[in-house]
Amino acid sequence: MEIQILDHTFVPYLSQEAIQAQIDRLADEIAADLKDEIPVFIVILNGAFMFAADLMKAYSHPAEISFVKMASYQGTQSTEQVSQLLGLDIDITNRHIVIVEDIVDTGNTIAELYNIINRYQTRSVRIATLFYKPEAYKKDITLDYVGFEIPNKFIVGYGLDYNKQGRNIPAIYQIKY
Ligand code: IMP
Ligand code: MG
Repeated sequence: MEIQILDHTFVPYLSQEAIQAQIDRLADEIAADLKDEIPVFIVILNGAFMFAADLMKAYSHPAEISFVKMASYQGTQSTEQVSQLLGLDIDITNRHIVIVEDIVDTGNTIAELYNIINRYQTRSVRIATLFYKPEAYKKDITLDYVGFEIPNKFIVGYGLDYNKQGRNIPAIYQIKY
């Protein structure tokens, strides 16, 4: 069933079950690489909170988690400006890092974050993103773990917002033009 958020209509796109299946796969892929280490998952708030919760429950190996904040989005259009990283409360020196993002669109946010993380002497840095829009991506940083490659259309739900709303919707909806 369609839903209305502010001035836009959205149509059902991905069910909770479909999302969970990909998250379970991602957790397995991460475990295959890092289960013998104690990785630090760096979760990018706000959008990745729901993905991170389900990913961490699916990842049944030792891990540490830190929640940080960066913002680069206004409405349905990505802006070029990206803010600083706030809230990193774990010393990531000599650690294996997995950045947990909700969605990679232009790649500006992930590139900025990647640069900040790379100022530390980490042992490795990997990226896990639930959604990736290849048509919009302008960077060449490798995305190690990708849940879904999706078309360049705005989506909402499962942590992702449209002008602050819709984050609590448990499934993913796509904008109807
Ligand atoms: P980027 O910097 O252009 O890659 O944008 C990344 C950020 O923009 C994400 O972390 C989201 O917060 C937001 N974003 C990008 N595409 C969407 C979308 O389709 N729906 C909701 N938020 C989005
Ligand atoms: Mg985000």
